[in-house]
Amino acid sequence: MALLEIKNLNVTYQMKEKEIAAVEDVSLSIEEGKPLGIVGESGSGKSTLAMAVLRMLPAGTKVEGEISLKGKELLTMPEAELKALRWKEMSVVFQKSMNTLSPVHKIERQLMDMYRVHDGQTPAKEIKQRLAQLLALVNLPERVLRSYPHELSGGQLQRVSIAASLMHNPPLVILDEATTALDVITQGQILNEIKELRDKMKVTWLLITHDISVVSSCCEQVAVMYAGRLMEYGTVEQVICHPAHPYTMGLLGSFPLLYGERENLKGIPGNMPDLSKKPEGCVFAPRCPYAKEECRCGRTGMMEIETGHLTACPVGRR
Ligand SMILES: Nc1ncnc2c1ncn2[C@@H]1O[C@H](COP(=O)(O)OP(=O)(O)OP(=O)(O)O)[C@@H](O)[C@H]1O
Ligand SMILES: [Mg+2]
Repeated sequence: MALLEIKNLNVTYQMKEKEIAAVEDVSLSIEEGKPLGIVGESGSGKSTLAMAVLRMLPAGTKVEGEISLKGKELLTMPEAELKALRWKEMSVVFQKSMNTLSPVHKIERQLMDMYRVHDGQTPAKEIKQRLAQLLALVNLPERVLRSYPHELSGGQLQRVSIAASLMHNPPLVILDEATTALDVITQGQILNEIKELRDKMKVTWLLITHDISVVSSCCEQVAVMYAGRLMEYGTVEQVICHPAHPYTMGLLGSFPLLYGERENLKGIPGNMPDLSKKPEGCVFAPRCPYAKEECRCGRTGMMEIETGHLTACPVGRR
């Protein structure tokens, strides 16, 4: 059974005068021990998908489809059951998780309070030992527990947030741009620590980033999203080494030309469509160097071009 299974997920934000289709018909799954990276430029629906899994979307948002965690259906689960499941079965680290720490209490007190929300039984001494152990996992010394947040650097605080997310040993951790605000060296160190957690803690992550190179170093599977839709999905080897979709090629920094010399282009010219008025046919067609007339009418679903490698467009394979 998959750790996380998402089937035909649709998330639509309801605004006063329009509907924003932020996630459209997305299906994917995460197997235990096989971390998944979701990539795509800003506004492609990555965080919306994560918030749907966490059931943290604003009230009134239309959500359709199925999301199950270890076989338990999340979208229809009663709130009380969901509360018990958060932190123990899945947790999350956001880009600005560190901002949720209170400036007036020491780290230890805050982490102990967080721990006790989901476990009121464990004696203080044991919790302290557990916290020190968790900090060691993210390369922080025990004295961090006796510090106030303002005494720590951004990288140290983000490590504290990652340690906190692991407190109750959840099998799934969602990292939404968790290292984006940090310098590249610290980001690299933290990503390495995260990779080690897979063996040390048996944790599997869903890592959201706009940086496709981050995914290739610490995930096994990749999902590429654009304008709320899944463009390509498969193993890192399949999607990053042998991309089929022009959007994935664009993210990788090059549209290999079908004829003539190979040319590297930086970035993808043009902008993402308005999600309340998507173009007919393929959403990427207006920016795609390979688009033909037929791409602008009718929408095709995902096609499997080899076992486990799905794409909305196979142009890179022709
Ligand atoms: N609460 C909300 N209400 C209305 N629209 C929203 C809301 N949150 C996000 N959106 C819209 O949904 C779309 C997808 O946003 P989302 O935050 O999921 O993208 P993202 O891929 O995470 O982007 P980024 O890389 O910038 O974090 C965007 O057009 C955004 O403006
Ligand atoms: Mg986001």
